Amino acid sequence: MEQSELMQLFVDELKDIYSAETQLVKALPKMAKAAVSDELKNGFLEHLEETKGHVERLEQIFTVLEEKPTGKHCAGMEGLIKEGSEAAHETYEGNAKDAALIGAAQRVEHYEIAAYGTVRAMAAKLGDDNSVRLLAATLKEEKDTDVKLSNIADKMVIKPDGQSEEAADSRKKKAANV
Ligand SMILES: [Fe+2]
Repeated sequence: MEQSELMQLFVDELKDIYSAETQLVKALPKMAKAAVSDELKNGFLEHLEETKGHVERLEQIFTVLEEKPTGKHCAGMEGLIKEGSEAAHETYEGNAKDAALIGAAQRVEHYEIAAYGTVRAMAAKLGDDNSVRLLAATLKEEKDTDVKLSNIADKMVIKPDGQSEEAADSRKKKAANV
C-alpha cells in the first residue's frame, strides 16, 4: 500500500473513532444513571471524563493533520450503545442489572481496543510519533477500564445482592457445616 493511501485510510479510521467516542460521551451518563451500585455508577462517570479526554486527543491529531474530525458515523458504536440501552431498560434488578450493563460496556471497550490498536499501528507505519503517543495513551485507558469492569463483575459473583461480605461469609460457613 502506498503511503498516501495509508494516510487516507488512517484519517478515515480516526473519523470513525471520533464518531464512536462522541456517541459514547452522550451514552455514558445514561449508563451511569441506570447502574445500581455506586461503584459501577462512579466507574461509568470516571470513564466519561476519560472519554472526553479521548475526544480531545483525537482533535489534537486532526489539528496536526489539518483534517476535520467530522463526516463519518460509526455504526458499530451505535449498535453497541443500543444494546447497552436495552440492557438498562430490561427488567433486571440489582446485581443482574449491573451485570447486564457491564456486559454492554465491555463490548464497547473491546471494540475501542481493536480500533485504537489498528490506528496506532497505522500511525507507526506512517512514522507519526505524535499520533502514536496519543493513541497509545488512550488505548491504555481503554484496557484499564476493561480490567476495572471485570473486577467489578467478579465481586458481584462473590457477593450476592443486598448482603455485606460478612453476611455472605457466614452464609458460606453455614452451608459448609451442613
Ligand atoms: Fe475511549
